Amino acid sequence: MDDLILEVQHLTHQFRLTKNLVIKAVDDLSFQIRRGEIFGLVGESGSGKSTVARCIMNIYQPSSGRIFYNGINVCDPKEFRKHKKILQTSRQLIFQDSASSLNGRMQVADIIGEPMEIHHIKPPRGSLRAEAEFQLHSVGLDKSYLNKYPTELSGGMRQRVAIARALSMEPELLVADEPIASLDVSIQAQIINLFKHLQAEHDFSILFIAHDLSVVKYLCDRVGVMYRGKLVEVAQTKELFSSPKHPYTKTLLSAIPVPDPRRERTRVLQEFDPALFEWDGKLVEISPDHLVWKGGNQ
Ligand SMILES: Nc1ncnc2c1ncn2[C@@H]1O[C@H](COP(=O)(O)OP(=O)(O)O)[C@@H](O)[C@H]1O
Ligand SMILES: [Mg+2]
Repeated sequence: MDDLILEVQHLTHQFRLTKNLVIKAVDDLSFQIRRGEIFGLVGESGSGKSTVARCIMNIYQPSSGRIFYNGINVCDPKEFRKHKKILQTSRQLIFQDSASSLNGRMQVADIIGEPMEIHHIKPPRGSLRAEAEFQLHSVGLDKSYLNKYPTELSGGMRQRVAIARALSMEPELLVADEPIASLDVSIQAQIINLFKHLQAEHDFSILFIAHDLSVVKYLCDRVGVMYRGKLVEVAQTKELFSSPKHPYTKTLLSAIPVPDPRRERTRVLQEFDPALFEWDGKLVEISPDHLVWKGGNQ
């Protein structure tokens, strides 16, 4: 049996906008993340990725469904309260825009040390400052950054600080919600490499959210593709890229630029026609570890 760190079962979340208008942001979604795995969740803007992340992190209480983290049903308020400290420390969320998620009035040393203070965790390396220096080092920044403010840092450096802050909790699960989307392309690869390297070093699991497939190709072990609140395909990364099955996955793949300029000029951008999506369907395992959304009449 797989050793699962996260099990999302039939997760549904809707937002009530007005008395008569409800948006189903996430619709009956199920997937698992194995221990030590990097799982990519991909889909266009508005497909429900952040809502999934927020339900997993207990920021939203799902409308229905269950989420098990290390066997704990985090949606059950009683279980949440019972395991609150472990849930708040061993799961860490990294946002797209660290400019707004990091406190601009705090220096880097305090930003990294703050979660340890809040959760009354004794710094393993003696002091909060020593701990901050250690974690900064592990994300590739030296101690000269300890006294800097977020505004003095580039986007990539701020994201490194956000990662260092998360690492200080020795997480078992990192949820990274489009962590490179607001970075320059040249910096994106560096941060992806950092995630890869940190995962190998710490062996934690990562839910890595992105809006295009090129980002997850190198990083993720498995990928789930979301379309309008639903998962339409889940497969090992290699399999998804070599034999995509759902038309929407194929559309996303066609959007990836190719390095060869001649082929790039002739690349055909496919479009996905929402009218063709069969809402009445389900995810079917077509081969081991490869699930595809199939309409009711297929
Ligand atoms: N707080 C909210 N209130 C109302 N609607 C929301 C809220 N957050 C997200 N939505 C809606 O839910 C859908 C999914 O959003 P989101 O999870 O942010 O998608 P993604 O992260 O894939 O861009 C979108 O239609 C969005 O407009
Ligand atoms: Mg989002």
